[in-house]
Amino acid sequence: MSPSYETDAVGLGRASATIAAAHTRRTGTDKHAFENAKAAAGIALEALNLVAALGENVPYLGAIATALTAFKRVMDEVDACKEGCRAAMKDAEAFENLLYEFQAEWGYVESNGKDALHQAFRDAGNSVLACLYALQSAKVDSQRWRDRLKLVFKRDELQATTRECRLRMKIAKERFSMTVAMDTNRLVHRIHRHLQPVGAVRGPTSTLETSWRRRAAPAMFFGREAEVDQAIDLISHQHPARVAILGSGGIGKTSIALSVLHHPGVLALYGDRRCFVSCEAIASADGLIRALSEATNLNVESDTSAESARHRLLSHLTASEAGVICLDNMETPWNTDMVAIEGLLADLASLPSTALIVTSRVMDTPLIEWSTPALEPIMPFSVKAALQTWDVICKRHDHHAVKLVNAVECVPLAVVLLARLARFEPARDIWRRWEKDHTDLIHLHDVGHRLNNLAVSIELSLRALHDQDAVDILSILSIFPYGLKEDDISRFEDILEHRYSVRRAIATLQRYSLAYIDDHEWYLDVRVVRVLSPIRHHISQ
Ligand SMILES: Nc1ncnc2c1ncn2[C@@H]1O[C@H](COP(=O)(O)OP(=O)(O)O)[C@@H](O)[C@H]1O
Ligand SMILES: [Mg+2]
Repeated sequence: MSPSYETDAVGLGRASATIAAAHTRRTGTDKHAFENAKAAAGIALEALNLVAALGENVPYLGAIATALTAFKRVMDEVDACKEGCRAAMKDAEAFENLLYEFQAEWGYVESNGKDALHQAFRDAGNSVLACLYALQSAKVDSQRWRDRLKLVFKRDELQATTRECRLRMKIAKERFSMTVAMDTNRLVHRIHRHLQPVGAVRGPTSTLETSWRRRAAPAMFFGREAEVDQAIDLISHQHPARVAILGSGGIGKTSIALSVLHHPGVLALYGDRRCFVSCEAIASADGLIRALSEATNLNVESDTSAESARHRLLSHLTASEAGVICLDNMETPWNTDMVAIEGLLADLASLPSTALIVTSRVMDTPLIEWSTPALEPIMPFSVKAALQTWDVICKRHDHHAVKLVNAVECVPLAVVLLARLARFEPARDIWRRWEKDHTDLIHLHDVGHRLNNLAVSIELSLRALHDQDAVDILSILSIFPYGLKEDDISRFEDILEHRYSVRRAIATLQRYSLAYIDDHEWYLDVRVVRVLSPIRHHISQ
């Protein structure tokens, strides 16, 4: 599923610019060269595009082809050792042709599961990536005349690098061809299996497979009795309920939705058929259909048409026992594919036994029959709940903490961020900084009132980090709405090892609540590092 690919690509540009800017800072050449760094980040952009694609499980071929294009461009620019470059370019072209031929014949690999072929694609991608980085560190893409001049003198070194790149690509190409050959057998077998009736090929279903997918209940949850009670009341008395939880970023919508989903009353009604789908990375109705199918354990092959995927999902939900679906941040796909999303929501709302919970930061809602009385837009929690939250994070609060939670008008996310800061410095000092920085930062973020305080809290946390690497990594993490899985992080660590310690940066971000580990309840070994959506939005501004 690739709904986030395009938006991610835009974000990746920013991230690679960040990397390049950080690199420039570190080498001490020009402190204010952020804009220039953007131009120099071309290679990093391609490379990160590839990483994103590998991590997000989106089309591999496209990503590798993009990286190969970048590779060829770099080769084209190297004028210090024409011979070796021409040979490397020939190799790259042969590799690319091989990929295209493969795509023409076996397009199915684009969104398939985790098989040997995917591993081969990954390896091929990583090899191209490694070559790009090797060349980048030789500064072959640099526009600066000094760098280019140095290159002429570093001829030998560059020739060796190019030779090594050629070799790596050659090995990758051979390995890839071999895997394709081996996979052909498996493909034939798979086609054969597809032709069998569904029941004939499926093994026994495990209990995990019957359980719909959801996130765990929030670890901290204070106040909000009224909101939760009202939602539970609607869900218990108006079968099937359609509940919208609306409000600005960081106000606590997701926490409320998850608490409702895990409430004993909802558990008694729907058992394991309670699912939670984050729509943050979904850009279309088709994307939502596929995410919902996955979350409710419906196996829809990637080559199924959008229309029949939709039909299958609706039939599946109609045939299933009663269940509840929570669509978090529904405004994301709604903003990009409004008519289709409204149509899909209308279909979901017409299902006789599926309750619907939707969270959105947009106050307007799609025109479906919402259960009444609708919840009022979510407001900040009480000072009492804010201080309870503070106490869980910092053990105790003083009158400066009270001043701080009031200053941020008890917006839960802002409270959490400030409380995290207060673990490392006295609330009195944070209050002083708040007073001092607040006006500056308000000027910086010319946005609405309450959101302004949230933005200021985020900025205060970023400043308190004193760790540019962590900020850079945060900007990369913010690109991935679904977060990064363990193996994605290892890959990042490998790729960026010369510039960052990714894991250390992530640990720092976690300490300040700027990133968190998302434990999936239904699948215990999947741990994903994520950034809350308001922080992601702030960073991307
Ligand atoms: N009732 C609550 N008690 C304690 N912390 C909360 C509460 N509601 C939200 N938070 C914290 O505030 C932050 C933002 O909450 P979240 O539910 O993600 O907001 P939204 O979905 O509106 O952006 C999270 O760190 C969450 O843990
Ligand atoms: Mg949310």
